[in-house]
Amino acid sequence: MTENEYLILGIESSCDETAAAVVADGRKILSSVVASQTDIHRKYGGVVPELASREHLRRIVPVVREAVEQAKISLADVDAVAVTHGPGLVGALLVGLTYGKTLAQALGKPLVGVNHLEGHVHAVFLEAHIAGREPQLPAVCLIVSGGHTILYHVKADASNGARHFSYAKIGGTRDDAAGEAYDKVARLLGLGYPGGPIVDRLAANGNPQAVKFSEPRMSGNAFDFSFSGIKTAVLYHVKRHPEMEPEIEARRTSIARGERSADQLRALSSPATLDLIASFQRSVVDNLLSRTLAATEKYGARTILVSGGVAANSELRRAFEAEGPKRGMDVYFPSRALSTDNAAMIAAAGFARFVAGERADSTLNAEANLPLA
Ligand code: KG4
Ligand code: ZN
Repeated sequence: MTENEYLILGIESSCDETAAAVVADGRKILSSVVASQTDIHRKYGGVVPELASREHLRRIVPVVREAVEQAKISLADVDAVAVTHGPGLVGALLVGLTYGKTLAQALGKPLVGVNHLEGHVHAVFLEAHIAGREPQLPAVCLIVSGGHTILYHVKADASNGARHFSYAKIGGTRDDAAGEAYDKVARLLGLGYPGGPIVDRLAANGNPQAVKFSEPRMSGNAFDFSFSGIKTAVLYHVKRHPEMEPEIEARRTSIARGERSADQLRALSSPATLDLIASFQRSVVDNLLSRTLAATEKYGARTILVSGGVAANSELRRAFEAEGPKRGMDVYFPSRALSTDNAAMIAAAGFARFVAGERADSTLNAEANLPLA
């Protein structure tokens, strides 16, 4: 740590990750601790809000303590506490928010409220900084996760400090988020929860051209998404192919025994299933890619930022990194660890707001549907 660096403690508890991080000057990650609750929610096939709140309560104190220890600082060194106050599960948000508020007050330090979605945008900048790159603005940012699939036009708002951005929403999903589609398809194919990582792994072994899914027909905004149709199409495909049922059951049994590695599940998947998985993934990725490229062109941007849990997807990364540069667009992804929910991104977003003079008080509230724009 050098002199005059601002140290922000970030706290995140909007969904099923309890996370805390210390970031210097919104760029240098001194620590990032993420306690995932996946093992708790797995047997229910999705996040159970009540269990999430209870787990956050159990983990928040040790997670913050660990973040401070790993950063080799003491709480008194922190210049501000940045905490996610939405969007997300209200009960889950309240745990981090209440803890953050109390901590800021006890330390006599400023409190900054952060929108979780803005955190995902800043995750891209954190990663770019590590790689010695600097994304040029304006950009189009695709946030694609279990809860969100949104396109933003991101502009610099330099009057408020170097990392202060302004946002306009270009489009969003009309039904399921892309990550939700991954999770639902994985569930119906007996691949467990969460669906993204396992579908990603198995798709590599299938033929993505094997099953044709029709593009969602949508009127209105050309930059909106829809993923419930493809989930239903996968369901109908399985119904039309009852021979797939026994292997689905076999995979469910395997997972119930705790045998859920990609190798174990691949061994229980026929070529037809692997083809279906690969085709599903190709369809989702094509959809995300084509709309993002079209939006970037329409808004005259040369930079594409992709963030959120689904940004960890290998096919999505490959497709964007292949197609963006062909059109003269620079493409930026966070590392996998920074793609999924974490608190380093909250500290980075909080830093920009802290420098811009934003301060929250004890009335800061948790907002389930807090918009970014
Ligand atoms: O950002 P995130 O950690 O939490 C939310 O804010 O939702 O995203 C979690 C979502 C889950 O739906 C998960 O299945 C998906 O991200 N995901 C993936 C991959 N890794 C996680 N989806 C596709 N491919 C992956 N490799
Ligand atoms: Zn998220």
